[in-house]
Amino acid sequence: MSDLIVTRATPADAPDLGIIGPAAYAAAYHDDWDDAVGFFQQLKTFGAEAMLETLAAPDARVWIARQDGVGVGFLTMFIGSLEPVNSREGGAEIPRIYLLPGARRGGIGKKLLDAAETQAKAEGCTYVWLDVMEHAEWASAAYVRWGFADIGVQTFSGGLRPGRSRAMRVMVKDLK
Ligand SMILES: CC(C)(COP(=O)(O)OP(=O)(O)OC[C@H]1O[C@@H](n2cnc3c(N)ncnc32)[C@H](O)[C@@H]1OP(=O)(O)O)[C@@H](O)C(=O)NCCC(=O)NCCS
Repeated sequence: MSDLIVTRATPADAPDLGIIGPAAYAAAYHDDWDDAVGFFQQLKTFGAEAMLETLAAPDARVWIARQDGVGVGFLTMFIGSLEPVNSREGGAEIPRIYLLPGARRGGIGKKLLDAAETQAKAEGCTYVWLDVMEHAEWASAAYVRWGFADIGVQTFSGGLRPGRSRAMRVMVKDLK
């Protein structure tokens, strides 16, 4: 892989984040949606304007992975967000980690996670957590490989294709 760089994202990265997010989400999860309007609303939460709002939040930390100068993946983290199963103190939530299709399976996700974990520890967090759609085996496989453990279930709030499971696994990784 050529020239991969992971950096903390700033508002100047919002245009690239606003391309990676909708494209990566659609590539992985388009089949969950059969309603174009609902799908649009979901994609919009990954757009540049939404990313600018995230970047402005005091508890948000965002990283972007660039290859040959262009954005290919990103991760968002919220310091102080507690896992929803036991509300354990000391948490940081990783609500989004998304790579463009051609960037997957090459260790870029792990590089983004390493940056987030280092930051979470520096800010006194003792664990990171995330949730993942139950059917997204590719993502849960990566999380297990990276040291996350399944601690329970919660329900996706969006309107998915009828019959599609809205169950999400909640996963936690302790920081040592
Ligand atoms: C989930 C994601 C962030 C993982 O990042 P990644 O850089 O691809 O992961 P890695 O290359 O570090 O792979 C780690 C392990 O995950 C598992 N894995 C990753 N992709 C997989 C796939 N398509 N099928 C099965 N297992 C997979 C493997 O165990 C892999 O280790 P291996 O390649 O040594 O076998 C990335 O695939 C992605 O962005 N997917 C699309 C968006 C998404 O679903 N995001 C998660 C939302 S909750």
